[in-house]
Amino acid sequence: MFISEEVEKLSQDYLENPFGKKKDKRIEGWLEIIKALPQPDNIQVELLSEVSVNFHCNDSRGLEEKLLLLLPWRKGPFKVNEIFIDSEWDSGKKWERFLKLNLDLKGKSILDVGSGNGYYAFRSIGLGAEQILCLEPNLMHVSQFAAINHFVDSKMIRMIPERLENSSLENSDFDLIFSMGLLYHQRNPKQHLYDLRNLLSKKGRVILETIVSPKEYGVALEPKEAKYASMPNVHYLHTDFGCKLLFKELGLRVIAESAPELTSEEEQRKTIWMPFKSFESALNQDNKSLTIEGYPAPARKFYVLEDSGI
Ligand SMILES: C[S@@+](CC[C@H](N)C(=O)[O-])C[C@H]1O[C@@H](n2cnc3c(N)ncnc32)[C@H](O)[C@@H]1O
Repeated sequence: MFISEEVEKLSQDYLENPFGKKKDKRIEGWLEIIKALPQPDNIQVELLSEVSVNFHCNDSRGLEEKLLLLLPWRKGPFKVNEIFIDSEWDSGKKWERFLKLNLDLKGKSILDVGSGNGYYAFRSIGLGAEQILCLEPNLMHVSQFAAINHFVDSKMIRMIPERLENSSLENSDFDLIFSMGLLYHQRNPKQHLYDLRNLLSKKGRVILETIVSPKEYGVALEPKEAKYASMPNVHYLHTDFGCKLLFKELGLRVIAESAPELTSEEEQRKTIWMPFKSFESALNQDNKSLTIEGYPAPARKFYVLEDSGI
C-alpha cells in the first residue's frame, strides 16, 4: 500500500498515465515525448548528492532534444548522462538550506504540496524517505516528473496533478509535509495551513518555506494586483510576526526556523532550459534591494511546525 488506503486509491489513476483524465491540448505531445525516451539498461541513479542518472545511450543528441521539448524547466537541475538540465532555479540551494534544519527523513512518509517536477521528492528518497506523495497542479511540471522518473523508476514517489484543496485527501497522516514557496500564492493562507495541519501524523512536522516581508509591513504585505517580483498570484507576503500569528491561531508551534535569505541571481536565472524572463527582470536594476514593483526584494525563510494539540 502506498502511504494509506486513501492515497493508494487516489494515486492509482496516475500510475498508467501521469495526467489521468486531465484535459489539456499539450498532453498528447508530452505523452509522445515520454514514450519516445530510451529504455535504459543497467542504469546508475544518484539521488543523495544530486539527481542524476547514467546509462548507455546511442543517441545523446536526440535525447537532449526530446528533454528540451519539455521546457520550461523551472526546477532542478537534473543530470541525464552528460546532459545537464540547467533549470531556472538551482533548487539545490534551497535543499542546502533545508538540510541545515537537520530533519531525519529516514523511513518517513512525506506529502510535498506544490512539488514542482519532484526535485525535492527525488532528493528526499536519497536521504532515505520511505514514500512521497507529490501534489502539483501545473501539468508542465507533471510531464517533467514523468520524464525524469522514466529513468529513475522510483516506485516510492507518486504525483497527483491537483491542488491540495482539490485533492480529496482527508484521512491520511504524513510524517512530514512540505509546503515550500506556496503560502504567498494562496488566496486563503490560513485555510492552507489548516489543511496541512489536518494531514499531519501525531508527531508530524510541517516544513514551511516562504517569502517573509520586513516587519514594517505589520502582518503582511499585500501586493497591488497580486503582482510581486514579476510573479502573478502573490496575495499575501507575511512578515515573520504575521507568520507566527497565523501559526498561533492554528495551534501550530514553531520548533525550528532559519534566518531569512535573499534570493540571488545565482539561484534563479534564465537558462537555455528556461529561456524566458527570470529573476533579472524581477528586480529594479538601479536598486536591487527593490522589486520592479517597488517592494522589498524577496527573502525566504524556513519554519518547522508541529501541532501543539490546542
Ligand atoms: C513557487 S512554486 C514552488 C515549487 C517548489 N515547492 C519549490 O519550493 O521550489 C509553487 C508551486 O506550487 C503549486 N501550487 C500552488 N498552489 C498550490 C496548492 N494550493 N496546492 C498544490 N500546489 C500548489 C504551483 O503549481 C507551483 O508549481
